[in-house]
Amino acid sequence: MALPSGFIEELIERCDIVNVIEDYMPLKSSGTNYVGLCPFHSEKTPSFMVSPSKQIFKCFGCGEGGNVISFVMKQENLSFIDAVRKLCDRCGMTFPENDEPDFQIRSRILELNREAARYFFNTLQSDEGKPAGQYLLKRGLTPAAIRSFGIGYAGSSWDGLLRAMTAKGFSQAELLAAKLVSRGKNGGLYDFFRERIMFPIIDVRGNVIAFSGRVLTSGDEGRKYINSPDTPVYSKSRALFGINLAKKTKSDFLLLVEGNMDVVSLHSAGFDSAIATCGTALTPQQAQLMKKYASKAVVCFDQDAAGQKATDKAIGILSGADIDVRVLRLPKLRGENGETIKDDPDSFIKREGADAFRKLLSKPPSDTEYKLAEIKSNADLSSDDGKIAYLKEAARYLATVPNDIEREIYTRNTAIDAALSEQALMNEVGRVRASLLREKKKKTANKAANPLSVIQPQERGLRYEDPAAAASEERFLVLLLSYPHLLKTAEASVKPTDFSSKLLASLYEKVLEMSKEGKYISPATLISGLEENEARHLSGVLASALPSEDPGAELLKLINNITIAHIKRTGGTQDVLSVMLAEKRKRGNDNAGTNS
Ligand code: UTP
Ligand code: MN
Repeated sequence: MALPSGFIEELIERCDIVNVIEDYMPLKSSGTNYVGLCPFHSEKTPSFMVSPSKQIFKCFGCGEGGNVISFVMKQENLSFIDAVRKLCDRCGMTFPENDEPDFQIRSRILELNREAARYFFNTLQSDEGKPAGQYLLKRGLTPAAIRSFGIGYAGSSWDGLLRAMTAKGFSQAELLAAKLVSRGKNGGLYDFFRERIMFPIIDVRGNVIAFSGRVLTSGDEGRKYINSPDTPVYSKSRALFGINLAKKTKSDFLLLVEGNMDVVSLHSAGFDSAIATCGTALTPQQAQLMKKYASKAVVCFDQDAAGQKATDKAIGILSGADIDVRVLRLPKLRGENGETIKDDPDSFIKREGADAFRKLLSKPPSDTEYKLAEIKSNADLSSDDGKIAYLKEAARYLATVPNDIEREIYTRNTAIDAALSEQALMNEVGRVRASLLREKKKKTANKAANPLSVIQPQERGLRYEDPAAAASEERFLVLLLSYPHLLKTAEASVKPTDFSSKLLASLYEKVLEMSKEGKYISPATLISGLEENEARHLSGVLASALPSEDPGAELLKLINNITIAHIKRTGGTQDVLSVMLAEKRKRGNDNAGTNS
């Protein structure tokens, strides 16, 4: 959605970042900046810094950083536009498109979704929904659970919803935008969900944002679940099924499971903090949303291979968001014919009861225990070869446990548990660990010998092709922002195309453009509109920039660096190089003379 030019700049200027952040957390002044405990990771001493002059924030602990808009996006888990809307309200600016199509279509889709949910709910209660109702009862859902989740049924007709919603005044365009109907080959419209049990996906504010539909009978052809595609009000990667209810939980953890059915069945059994992703792997955005309601998470996924893989992934993402994560493994059981029963939380509770689940929950194993149990469950301990393979695999993992005492205890327990020789396992762990430490030492040594790698941005997906040149380009931009009188010299000597980094070149272009329009260029404006990793990196560069002792001289040095690097990249010879440099220096000096 396009906002009028200059709008974001004005918003950033009007909403003082210090005031806005203080709405959420206390800040203490420290020199020209403010500091506080970072809201995005847990810490005891403040590494979160807010700069009123630059209008940016940066956490030197976890790396988060950006301007006032990025702060509100992260803190409130809002999209860019929603954060802008919120800040507009706060500083008394009118959001430009409140009466325009985008805003209207969003609120219409939400109204439509609510009506559709009501329609599906009523269908489930009607004659047509009887078989679906019976199926849900058979699976143990109570009428109360059906009501609190708003579960419904989409009938078999091709246009039941289409007709009902049209009668309520919704247009075809609105139904299409909500992805509740599709357009057929012949151009006609038909209902997207048919003959499915309907789970509304509801956000923390209680809006129905999407649907997930399950077939009535398993074993049918076609997919078990179909889900709403993304719409203007729904993004799969941000939504969590059940969060509207789980956010009210009194427990200090959220219980993350895989299936809609698991969520419903856990809530019915009294575990009111259960949530699930909507048919996708857990994303960092979802982890941020979880963090707003609990600092801990228990992951309890299906006990199959896919579930194990998803668990490993979720642990990484949750720990990355500083959520204290534990894994609840459902015990593997043997069925009557010796087959393994692969449970999910729903089937476990049905068979073993809520109390059995509560017992598991009261003492979930740690990450280490989980990982070791996983390695063991994949091992074959009946043969000597299998035992040796297990010993090696377990040792490889145990060697990575950083704490000495913990490592020793787990090593001993693992040996006892699998009837392995304690000494043999200890020796193997020691051997692997020694080689890991050697490798690490080598890596650090390499880094020290090759300082260029040190100044690569730490952000994922952000790499400078020529890190030395990029360092000069970064500093060059910092100087221009802090000492705008240098702009003329800079512009006369360096073109954006001389830069090695496309990202930095585009920022330089933005600086030149804004100065041409006579606009004030704040660091906060400069980083608005960047990708998240870019904003994180650059807010760090800007926030930690030291003032220059002699800005004019420093700029000339940077101009040299940038030019040399550019000529080297484009294959210039030393001769050309010195001539060009001499010329540049001259031009630079002339300009510096007239402007400073
Ligand atoms: P499950 O197959 O474990 O579903 O898939 P479930 O909710 O436990 O359902 P029951 O017990 O068989 O009734 C877990 C989740 O993965 C997504 C859905 O969100 C589902 O809840 N999924 C699954 C899909 O999106 N599409 C599919 O075809 C299957
Ligand atoms: Mn299930």
